[in-house]
Amino acid sequence: MERTFLMIKPDGVQRGLIGEIVSRFERKGLQLVAAKFMMVTPEIAERHYAEHVGKPFYPPLVDFITASPVFAMVWQGDNVIALSRALIGKTDALDAAPGTIRSDFAVHTRFNLIHGSDSEESAAREIGIFFKPEELVDYKQTIQRWI
Ligand code: TYD
Ligand code: MG
Repeated sequence: MERTFLMIKPDGVQRGLIGEIVSRFERKGLQLVAAKFMMVTPEIAERHYAEHVGKPFYPPLVDFITASPVFAMVWQGDNVIALSRALIGKTDALDAAPGTIRSDFAVHTRFNLIHGSDSEESAAREIGIFFKPEELVDYKQTIQRWI
């Protein structure tokens, strides 16, 4: 069973899209295992976006991600990393396929509503930045599922 780190960014929170976005992952059949409503500090932002430090879009990206609360989550399920990236859509809203979160609600590359880990290594690293191991709730889904 795979896990991924998803984070609704400040634009998604401010626009009242937490419910809409979370609902897409719920309806897909993925399982929520942790969630936290929080501010991202400059230190957390630098760790989370370490791969982008030094790129031209990095300073405005950090200003954006630290400006207002985010909704950080861990989800699990078979192939959850690739499935979530598919639901989220390409980074630039112009390239995102219709029906994806970024296509349906975003206009701008920076203000693209949600982050999703891009590999197992990133997922493990990012989950470790935002959550303590004991904050991940291990539970069995009790509904009968044929998903
Ligand atoms: P990236 O990891 O490439 O995209 P994704 O979120 O799809 O994994 O980039 C991280 C974030 O940086 C991206 O969500 C938005 C921002 N960004 C820009 O503002 N401009 C850019 O040209 C790129 C590539 C990213
Ligand atoms: Mg990325």
